[in-house]
Amino acid sequence: MTDAIAISNAQLRFGETAALDGVSLTIPQGTCFGIVGESGSGKTTLMRAVLGLQKLDQGEIRILGKPLVHGRAALRERASFIQPIFQDPAASLSPRSRIRTLMNEVGTVLREPHAATHERLAVILGRLSLPPGVIDKYPHEISGGQARRVAIARALLMKPSILIADEPTAGLDVSVQGDLLNLLQDIRRSQNITLVVISHNLAIMRLIAENAVVMRAGNVIEGGEVGSLFGSPQEVYTRDLLAAWPSIRAVNTKG
Ligand SMILES: Nc1ncnc2c1ncn2[C@@H]1O[C@H](COP(=O)(O)OP(=O)(O)OP(=O)(O)O)[C@@H](O)[C@H]1O
Ligand SMILES: [Mg+2]
Repeated sequence: MTDAIAISNAQLRFGETAALDGVSLTIPQGTCFGIVGESGSGKTTLMRAVLGLQKLDQGEIRILGKPLVHGRAALRERASFIQPIFQDPAASLSPRSRIRTLMNEVGTVLREPHAATHERLAVILGRLSLPPGVIDKYPHEISGGQARRVAIARALLMKPSILIADEPTAGLDVSVQGDLLNLLQDIRRSQNITLVVISHNLAIMRLIAENAVVMRAGNVIEGGEVGSLFGSPQEVYTRDLLAAWPSIRAVNTKG
């Protein structure tokens, strides 16, 4: 089967900084794939490149077998099958629109009657412990954690085949984190979507990802099936990352 995402030798510099220094990886369709690594290792930059928001200096990215194309039309087309959940959720919510408007846009893009969109939305909001009334608010009227969940709800509403989530659980209560992970897993299984999760939270990664890579200074330094990657890491750097999560080796509730 065609890979959901295939990245080959991705290179990108910001001045003196090699944000991506020759990253290659493939993400099979329908799997949950994790990207971990310390702050500044290039995770968000890689995500932005995959979304076509950031041009590479060198290298190639294929989404579902097709080379990534830049430009507005390509960006719009891509939004129908690949959806981001950004690290800063406020960035994906337009400050001047009520959340209802934001959700209605999804219906318009999908050519779905608004009633049907809102029926699906009600289920997603419930699963994310968001009150139905949240849709009548403006982004500045809700909390950071609520904004993150609203951004997640919107991404899910688009029914993408690939979802890339950058620190999706940051700033959420532990119980809501659990609800979110369950929701993501349910949707992934029922709709067979490919889920890419970027997180510092290795315990969460251990729970939901099948395969993962470890990034350091713009490179992938190791990767593989999460059980063996976290169970017997080859790199000292990975061992150091894992040292902050002492319970990880014992956790295994996937399946
Ligand atoms: N727009 C930009 N201009 C200049 N430098 C940038 C820009 N975006 C990222 N960088 C640099 O590229 C490197 C990788 O940044 P990136 O945001 O991808 O890291 P990250 O792994 O997502 O970190 P974090 O875990 O803190 O979110 C960092 O050194 C960062 O300072
Ligand atoms: Mg980041």
